[in-house]
Amino acid sequence: MNKVSEIWDNSPAASELSENLVHIWKGRTDDSTLDVDKLHMEILSQEEKKRVSRLRSAKDKMRFIVSRSLLRKSLSHYLQAAPSEVRFTYNKYGKPNIDPQYHPENIKFNLSHSENLALYAITQNREIGIDVEYIRKVDKADKIVKRFFSKEEGEFYHSQPNNMKNWAFFTLWTRKEAYSKAMGMGIGLPTKEFDLQLVPPEVGHSNDIRAENKVSKWSLINIEVDSDYLAALATEGYDFEIYHWKFDNI
Ligand SMILES: CC(C)(COP(=O)(O)OP(=O)(O)OC[C@H]1O[C@@H](n2cnc3c(N)ncnc32)[C@H](O)[C@@H]1OP(=O)(O)O)[C@@H](O)C(=O)NCCC(=O)NCCS
Repeated sequence: MNKVSEIWDNSPAASELSENLVHIWKGRTDDSTLDVDKLHMEILSQEEKKRVSRLRSAKDKMRFIVSRSLLRKSLSHYLQAAPSEVRFTYNKYGKPNIDPQYHPENIKFNLSHSENLALYAITQNREIGIDVEYIRKVDKADKIVKRFFSKEEGEFYHSQPNNMKNWAFFTLWTRKEAYSKAMGMGIGLPTKEFDLQLVPPEVGHSNDIRAENKVSKWSLINIEVDSDYLAALATEGYDFEIYHWKFDNI
């Protein structure tokens, strides 16, 4: 077992949250032992079923069904509700939130999936965003850097040796996405105009810059997931502990 997997504990039967805790859940979306039809029928809402019907490939359908089911399962640990009873609302940019009309606990969450992994960040009373990316070769990375990254981030990326460029790209990318997702704006946010770099290359995967980032109200934390993935978490404030849970299917 490598160092990365050691931080992930088996999921607890029940769990309590407070605003000083952030729970991150990790699951696989390609688990062939899961009864996907059963999850589809028994856990997803009508609206989510409609979304499944609009997806073209069997792979995308499975990924969405499993990802939503795991989301509902993780949230049901903190809400007085079964997975199928969790109700969502969506902001105008598409960010899902828990419907406060049905669930007054003010639980906040965000999720991200890439390749075969899904990550869920859950907390209380503070905005939160998470992004995970499978590390892959990116076509036209330089163009993307120019278009989406700030001047300083671009300089950081270009200063890396060739064998570190992919790492630098996805480190910056996941931080941008996590922050944009915490803000709830997705691509509505002018990503060039904020600078979330501040990652000394020697720190590698584990980099916690809570009090140092320029977006001072926010913590931006790289999350150790698996060797083929990079992930980042953004959340309001600095004063919290992070727990890492893994679903049984991982
Ligand atoms: C909508 C967006 C957030 C999705 O990001 P993605 O990397 O394609 O996908 P992820 O797997 O990380 O996240 C998808 C999940 O985020 C959630 N989500 C959707 N819209 C969201 C929003 N506006 N804010 C926060 N979360 C959102 C959903 O739960 C979605 O999962 P679902 O489709 O299964 O319901 C993304 O397209 C986006 O706008 N990105 C941010 C800004 C940007 O331009 N970044 C460029 C890099 S610098």
